Amino acid sequence: MQHDFSFVDRSGTGSVKWAFAPKAVKEAGVMPFTVADMEFRTAPEIIHAACTAAKHGVFGYTMADEAYLDAFKGYMEKIHGAKIETEWTVITPGVVSALFIAVRALTQPGDGVIIQPPVYPPFTGAVVKNGRELLLNPLVNNNGRYEMDYEGLEALAKQPNTKLMILCSPHNPVGRVWTREELARVGRICRENGVAVVSDEIHADVTYNGHAHTLFFEAAPECRESCIVCTALSKTFNIAGLNCSNILIPGEEMRKVFIHQKEVDCVGEMNYFAYGASIAAFNSDSSWMNAMLAQTWKNFEILRDFFHENFPSAVVYEPEGTYLAWIDLNGWNLTEDELTAFLVEKALFAVNRGSTFGRQGSGFVRFNLASPEAEVRAGLERLKTAAQAAGLR
Ligand SMILES: Cc1ncc(COP(=O)(O)O)c(C=O)c1O
Repeated sequence: MQHDFSFVDRSGTGSVKWAFAPKAVKEAGVMPFTVADMEFRTAPEIIHAACTAAKHGVFGYTMADEAYLDAFKGYMEKIHGAKIETEWTVITPGVVSALFIAVRALTQPGDGVIIQPPVYPPFTGAVVKNGRELLLNPLVNNNGRYEMDYEGLEALAKQPNTKLMILCSPHNPVGRVWTREELARVGRICRENGVAVVSDEIHADVTYNGHAHTLFFEAAPECRESCIVCTALSKTFNIAGLNCSNILIPGEEMRKVFIHQKEVDCVGEMNYFAYGASIAAFNSDSSWMNAMLAQTWKNFEILRDFFHENFPSAVVYEPEGTYLAWIDLNGWNLTEDELTAFLVEKALFAVNRGSTFGRQGSGFVRFNLASPEAEVRAGLERLKTAAQAAGLR
């Protein structure tokens, strides 16, 4: 089946990306390449399930039942070859809410929590806003490939107040899909030092070129009792607005503590529409997903070739996973404020500013590849015209 990834007008839908775009970009009515949702209509079977749910007309309280949990279990086996038990799953409205719950459940004010910048900004928020100590173990850039600093990780894990690590797997924004060996090494360090792990695997299904995702507790079985794996369909099928995440907690004690904190925080269950839409997604063949992966990868190739041809000083990182591209524009020798002003005001090219992911990202930008090809090409043309006028190479 052919799938359509052309432009969809999102005006009047309260889209965060469009309604809150930078002023110049919004006024010009051109596509922003920021917030990590897709500009694509989701899979036909999901739209069908949502329409069926709408027609039903009773939009009552909704929870994951056996049919939902079985379908989720089947999906994890089909997509990741992972064997999970239905009782491991706890539903939250989002992965970010799960991160905040986990921090409060597993640590006390003043305890240390490790994160690895540059990384998705709410990791910092979950630690700092809860009054925990932020422990930074920045990724290292080894000849254009980001890797984890295991010595740094071990040193932080050994500190007596360190209780938790939040891992981003696959890693937003640098696009690494951590290998089984890399994850096992993280698991060994954390286990040996009594550090629990929350692994944010929201991008797990979006991988390219044979880079297979491994669930954290499969790579690090010794951490089964001391880890939380956050999954969701929201990135894979562009259903973030349905507010439903599937949090896997194999350890019984860990699960109890998490559920207790979820109740204390008064965090609810899934949205009514998420129920049928998720089951449809769990049971779907992978035709839409595969077409989406082919389109986002093609967009990456267009972007990469564009920068190589026109801006040799830029470094474009190839994503192994996530539909996000990480681009180093430090070769233009602009301050970050100058870079943002140029991109927004002159090029009408709205992307995420690198330093929002940590100061290691200064001078970088994050570009959302889940945009229609024609819009990607149009955005890059705007950038080319403006950059050439400004003498940037
Ligand atoms: C790593 C990561 N975690 C979580 C989220 C958002 O999670 P949710 O919308 O389920 O709260 C994102 C969205 O971009 C993300 O990249």
